[in-house]
Amino acid sequence: MTQDRLIIFDTTLRDGEQSPGASMTREEKLRIAHLLEKLRVDVIEAGFPAASPGDFEAVRAVARAVKDSRVCGLTRARAPDIDRAAEALKDAAAPRIHTFIATSSIHMQHKLRMTPEQVIEHAIAAVRHARNYTDDVEFSAEDAGRSEIDFLCRVIEAAIDAGARTINIPDTVGYAIPQQFGATIATLLERVPNSDKAVFSVHCHNDLGLAVANSLAAVLNGARQVECTINALGERAGNASLEEIVMAVRTRQDIFPVETRIDATQIVPCSRLVSNVTGFPVQPNKAIVGANAFAHESGIHQDGVLKHRDTYEIMRAEDVGWSANRIVLGKHSGRNALRTRLLELGVEFDSAQLDDIFLRFKDLADKKHEVFDEDLQALVSEAAPEESDRYRLRSLHVCSETGVTPRAEIQLEIDDQLRSGAAEGSGPVDASFQAVESIVNSGTELLLYSVNNITSGTDAQGEVTVRLSRAGRIVNGLGADTDIVIASVKAYLHALNRLTVPAERAHPQHDGV
Ligand code: KIV
Ligand code: ZN
Repeated sequence: MTQDRLIIFDTTLRDGEQSPGASMTREEKLRIAHLLEKLRVDVIEAGFPAASPGDFEAVRAVARAVKDSRVCGLTRARAPDIDRAAEALKDAAAPRIHTFIATSSIHMQHKLRMTPEQVIEHAIAAVRHARNYTDDVEFSAEDAGRSEIDFLCRVIEAAIDAGARTINIPDTVGYAIPQQFGATIATLLERVPNSDKAVFSVHCHNDLGLAVANSLAAVLNGARQVECTINALGERAGNASLEEIVMAVRTRQDIFPVETRIDATQIVPCSRLVSNVTGFPVQPNKAIVGANAFAHESGIHQDGVLKHRDTYEIMRAEDVGWSANRIVLGKHSGRNALRTRLLELGVEFDSAQLDDIFLRFKDLADKKHEVFDEDLQALVSEAAPEESDRYRLRSLHVCSETGVTPRAEIQLEIDDQLRSGAAEGSGPVDASFQAVESIVNSGTELLLYSVNNITSGTDAQGEVTVRLSRAGRIVNGLGADTDIVIASVKAYLHALNRLTVPAERAHPQHDGV
């Protein structure tokens, strides 16, 4: 059987970023983009350049840095968006403009307030306009999963005639069911007269937990591009998980007549990086990248695996990037060893950054004798204090003992001034947050607090995620430390610092064309 190429289109930096609290800075996007390139994804959707100056800059930076993957920018079907995307992608080795308009009756009537004829006109105009900048134009029929099939055929035919080389069929609201979604793709390929002039793609959301199943059904019916994200990050319940799609196709070559060019050994490093940057922990039982994905607990399973791995393993942990030799460095390791290991982990840094990481590494190695890859990644991701940080932790004293209300005393540096505060709370973490608030009075609401052991053992670092909201804006903060109260305060201050940076961004799918 000859294998077709399945194009892996990663949208972690765009749709993934639309998860509440997952917004990323330019530097964070760059770090992830470098690793996605190493993972060998075909297309990196780097953002929505018209959303804000920050998004524009991030897409431009990714476009300049990435050479081995196509770099794509999303646009609504309007000329100014497309011009902005073209500008951001100007320096890309292989740019793609991705333009979309909704095609379901419910979206056309209530969101766009357009007739179907107007939607077709906008789609044609947008694709033609984008073709002035590049041959690589993708058109998406938003909410295709709920669009009327005859109309969908007409829009797609028109978009291909106008010059779209990729046609994306999004199940925007995660409504599709595998058998039906697969049949939709087969019908479109059969009924759209010029379907052979474009690659058909799918983009599935996970509202019913079917995003991967729907995407794979589409592949079996002729789709040759899948849009997906690392760790299934994405709007609401997320997108199809890249790691699950890639490994399903690879593991079941008897079923799927396609192959990807992904270097699967980069999957786990990518997953960790995305989790660290966004503050979205990976659930332990998540397929492929969860901490338990390859852990055999029951005696029967362990016995089977020891006798013959294939008894209970359909994939090998090392093939997706779980490293067998996890101990990397200790307190006697030098700067060069650290540098080499960071490079192996795909971390990019300049010499000033390496100095800072090295200092923090030494500090950590003093407290914790074995420093694992996971620790290094947390160290890198943990917001190294930045010039622009408004709030910095100077000292924390916490008193917690049986029968006594926990109390925290804290010193913060705010705009170069030392400020002190103290508070009691229901536990040491609560008291510490109250102590911070006694100084900053931020007016935020704590939406999420979670602690994750980075590695095992009581000397492991705790990695804390704090999600705060204020006036409709949601941010995540991350902190890691062998002391979880300190990690918690670091995460809280990280989130507060993020809130001090203005974020004015439009959402691609919240208004019409
Ligand atoms: O879910 C969706 O429809 C999208 C499109 C913009 C591709 O994200
Ligand atoms: Zn989407």
